[in-house]
Amino acid sequence: MNITLTSGKTIAAAPGRSVLEALNEAEIYLTSSCGGKGTCGKCKIIIRSGRVESKSKMKLSQEELDKGYALACRTFPSEDILIEIPKESMLTVEGKIATGKSKDLQELLRSTGAEIEPIADRTVLDLPPPSLDDNISDLERLKRELLTKRLGCLRVPFRFLANLAKTVRKENWKITLCTVHSEDCDEITNIFPGDKKTPRYGIAVDIGTTTIVVYLVDLSNGELVDVASIYNSQIRFGDDVITRIVNATEHNELKNLHKAVISDINILVSLLRKSHHIGVDSIDCLVVAGNTTMTHFFLGLDPSSIREEPYIPTANIFPLAYAGELGIRLNPNMPVYSFPCVASYMGGDIVSGVLAAGMHKKEELSIFIDIGTNGEIVIGNREWMVSAACSAGPCFEGSGIKHGMRATDGAIEYVKIDRQTLEPEIKVIGENALPMGICGSGMIDAVSEMFLSGILDQKGRLRKGVSSRIREGEDGPEFVVCSGDGGDIVLTEPDIENIIRAKAAIYAGFSTLLKEVGFTFDDVHRVYIAGGFGKFLDIEKAVILGMLPELPKERFEYLGNTSITGAYLCILSRRLRAEAEDISRKMAYIELSVSHSFMDEYVSGLFIPHTNINAFPHVKELMKK
Ligand code: FES
Repeated sequence: MNITLTSGKTIAAAPGRSVLEALNEAEIYLTSSCGGKGTCGKCKIIIRSGRVESKSKMKLSQEELDKGYALACRTFPSEDILIEIPKESMLTVEGKIATGKSKDLQELLRSTGAEIEPIADRTVLDLPPPSLDDNISDLERLKRELLTKRLGCLRVPFRFLANLAKTVRKENWKITLCTVHSEDCDEITNIFPGDKKTPRYGIAVDIGTTTIVVYLVDLSNGELVDVASIYNSQIRFGDDVITRIVNATEHNELKNLHKAVISDINILVSLLRKSHHIGVDSIDCLVVAGNTTMTHFFLGLDPSSIREEPYIPTANIFPLAYAGELGIRLNPNMPVYSFPCVASYMGGDIVSGVLAAGMHKKEELSIFIDIGTNGEIVIGNREWMVSAACSAGPCFEGSGIKHGMRATDGAIEYVKIDRQTLEPEIKVIGENALPMGICGSGMIDAVSEMFLSGILDQKGRLRKGVSSRIREGEDGPEFVVCSGDGGDIVLTEPDIENIIRAKAAIYAGFSTLLKEVGFTFDDVHRVYIAGGFGKFLDIEKAVILGMLPELPKERFEYLGNTSITGAYLCILSRRLRAEAEDISRKMAYIELSVSHSFMDEYVSGLFIPHTNINAFPHVKELMKK
């Protein structure tokens, strides 16, 4: 059977394969935030002709069904079909990096004092051709040249011997060695004939529980060439890490969880390579930062003991792996470095974030918080660091929210509500982009604005009759944030409950951890906030919501996705890679889930802004207006 796209392309569909799977095999990728479970409604296609079997119609309105919309992941062709892929369903690379983003990253690297010294390097050698007088073997000739050039200890793995004779002779004894840095002895990871010093790229990856982000980095100058992101398709095995561990261990799904994350990375790398015409041999290394469970799944390690007391991972500092061992579709010998973790619930993404924030070098007391699927908090300075995790849930990344989406084109990132008319003003990410959903920063804005304008009460319930935008929807009362061609974008009461639960967990994490180490919010000089909110997070709105403590505004610094920033730094600097390992060794971890104080704090936080309104004097004033 064939699937023809309205663009003219025809692909084969094997029997029993969904349209989504057939498209993936043809390297056409759709957004699929539920990983193909048929529950997110993001993989919409339009059937123009031909019979199909549709196994789920979830999230499709009657109007869409009438127009021929279907979910690609739950649609199976019964004969040759013609389909259209709506623009909003397509997964694309960023293509155009936000102005200044690459410069900011290069500046951050410079500010650390680190040189560009990628963890994987290339060296061009001109070997003296052999003669009757100089008749040592090819391998000895190579080793002699390394000694002469004082290239230090360099291991030549056996696998290169089979082709060495051909490689050295192919371009008149000029060769390029690809090497990976290691503390005791560097290792050759590839040998090419001729001068292949450039182009050379590295791939930095942030494996979030909900979202995976990939940076394509030019290793010769540190430029960020492009970015791509995707929902982590492991979501079909559960939204949170615990459900995925249960699936891996009790339902034998470890291999499939490993394959899912590797396939997501392969998709993103392939999109980036195609879009920039980069061959596999030009990619020298891949650096991954992720929480401990994600790193275990990525490396195919058994995560079962992460979930059971006393919560011990297989490893916190991981040996170097190679692309071929993991199923990454690049040069099989390409080295893969995984960020070191701290404990079962404090992973490499946080070590990477602390490295990016630079708090491990400062004298003053700082707090770092990464708001992703979990909230991970680190308190400390250059001498000590204590960390804890609080389960915030994935709502700020768009998951579990009716019209939630990641902070990409089409996401509402800013909401302001007129206090008189109660009409919202919105800003959408992307030039001339139409609103398609709402991302984390938009949710924080919307809920705090709805609260201040009286649309929402302190418990997060919509006040019916206050605004004509409040109506009864499929999931109960909802507020219409905006109306567009693609339908209305709403925040439902269950969405708002999710947001309030998440913010309560984050605030409880802050206050409990500070108490544990004997400090108060007043002792904190700086609060670094990380998370995939896009380029914009209104700190004041996050304080009104009760997610962040009420501190002077200048003490907050929003850093965006620091996990990927740390991976970017690490790929370009051996010194920073060593610093990351130091951070992981230095950081202590406290288990909050067993703390009564955390539960009490959490319950107190299930109000806007908080049960203890005296901790929010400015918000109290605003409420009177
Ligand atoms: Fe198809 Fe989620 S509904 S991927």
